[in-house]
Amino acid sequence: MVSREFIQGLPKAELHLHLEGTLEPDLKLELAQKNNVDIGQSTIEEVKASYQFNDLSSFLAVYYPAMNVLQDSEDFYKLAMAYLAKAKENSVRHVEMFFDPQAHTSRGVDFAEMFNGYYRAVTESEERFGISSQLIMCFLRDMSEESALEHYEMARPFFDKIVGIGLDSDERDNPPTKFQKVFEMAKKDGFKLTMHCDIDQKDSIKHIHDVLHVIGVDRIDHGTNIVEDQSLVEYVKEKGIGFTCCPVSNSFVTDDMKGKEMKELLDQGVKITVNSDDPAYFQSYIANDYYELAKKMDLSQEDIVKIAKNSFEISWISEEKRAAYLAEIDAYVEAHK
Ligand code: ADE
Ligand code: ZN
Repeated sequence: MVSREFIQGLPKAELHLHLEGTLEPDLKLELAQKNNVDIGQSTIEEVKASYQFNDLSSFLAVYYPAMNVLQDSEDFYKLAMAYLAKAKENSVRHVEMFFDPQAHTSRGVDFAEMFNGYYRAVTESEERFGISSQLIMCFLRDMSEESALEHYEMARPFFDKIVGIGLDSDERDNPPTKFQKVFEMAKKDGFKLTMHCDIDQKDSIKHIHDVLHVIGVDRIDHGTNIVEDQSLVEYVKEKGIGFTCCPVSNSFVTDDMKGKEMKELLDQGVKITVNSDDPAYFQSYIANDYYELAKKMDLSQEDIVKIAKNSFEISWISEEKRAAYLAEIDAYVEAHK
């Protein structure tokens, strides 16, 4: 089996990462104190003990209230910079980071205050960490389409600083087609599109079908239930549509990391990638996600290298950058022969 060291040093792109999910207990406590926010816990152990979840909705019930500690631009900047430092340790060369504006504006935080903090980290990431970074704005699917449209307009002054539009939060009874209008606008405005198709949802296959054939996304987040429908698998293969899979996250919100599904898709030539999702909550950064999957599925070095290459192949970057990152992987593999 491939070693942890090989995985740790392998150049990779992270494409499924919620900035709000990188809030580590120590920063959470520090910001709670700074901003005078009572989070109900005062030690790292107490914060960790509050991480009790066994499905997506119980996870989200812990996740959203914790964001109260994020108040000013500096807090958002600090959060993103702390993640980028961890990403560097994991040999991440490029990252496309989700943020959830509605989770902040709904608590009275100004859109620009939040955005400017995150964006400052983006502008510094190349020089500070050698990581190129981009932002994907996600809508919360359990809120209305009207709210998504309102936030789309709030983001307009920052459109040139956002690469794509995504959809996250609780999928149950919140189908992709609820957001058809706003995603149509985003596509016309030149944004890349992605949507969460969480694991084992009530209408997983219908949602995956609609995300592909009604919305017309460029990528799918999670989405491994697609193995249940071979015609959809053939479609994504033909179109080169990639999947941002998150094995450790899956093992927290379902009973399984879904490694079998990932391996099956990989073997069929589907562009699957491995990512950390909410690393502070699942206590696993991206190299560990690769390692846990490799261990569970007994993946070869070739499989792992394929996954890392997929991550750059489905990144929303220029062809020049893509070629340079892929060459970096080849050089790394050559040096480890
Ligand atoms: N928000 C953060 N992580 C998420 C996930 N895995 N699914 C949906 N919404 C999320
Ligand atoms: Zn996610």
